[in-house]
Amino acid sequence: MNLDDCVPEPEKKEYSSVCVGREEDIKKRGRMTAVVHDREVVIFSHEGGYYAMDIRCYHSGGPLHLGDIEDFDGRTCIVCPWHKYKITLATGEGLYQSINPKDPSAKPKWCSKGIKQRTHVVAVDNGNIYVTLSTEPFKCDSDFYATGDFKVIKSSS
Ligand code: FES
Repeated sequence: MNLDDCVPEPEKKEYSSVCVGREEDIKKRGRMTAVVHDREVVIFSHEGGYYAMDIRCYHSGGPLHLGDIEDFDGRTCIVCPWHKYKITLATGEGLYQSINPKDPSAKPKWCSKGIKQRTHVVAVDNGNIYVTLSTEPFKCDSDFYATGDFKVIKSSS
């Protein structure tokens, strides 16, 4: 018997895409919020692209739909309104600045903590915006606020 046969595959759910609104509306407002399969998400329209992610910040559950969009080191981020954490729109990475304590004159350098905020897929069809939830099986810090006790939207099932 092959040992690989005993190792369960990580759970990979399949979600259908959900229509969350009209493209003309998100273009006007720059962002919209939606509940997709019992998960609260925010969708941003920025410089011709659309980006969706969990609405609650991975750090402490802050409301990302109320944050400002800014560029840091050439990467477009949503800045959480609570403690100013920076999260890349495209990948959900947490960015921070580091300095070398042995070289106090050095300029702080932008670094990535890795993917902290779960991002989702956005598609446009016939003027409608569709969101498909991420099916990546890795654990993401923002899952805590999207699925745990802190989840605002309670499942109907
Ligand atoms: Fe977002 Fe703290 S809750 S930075």
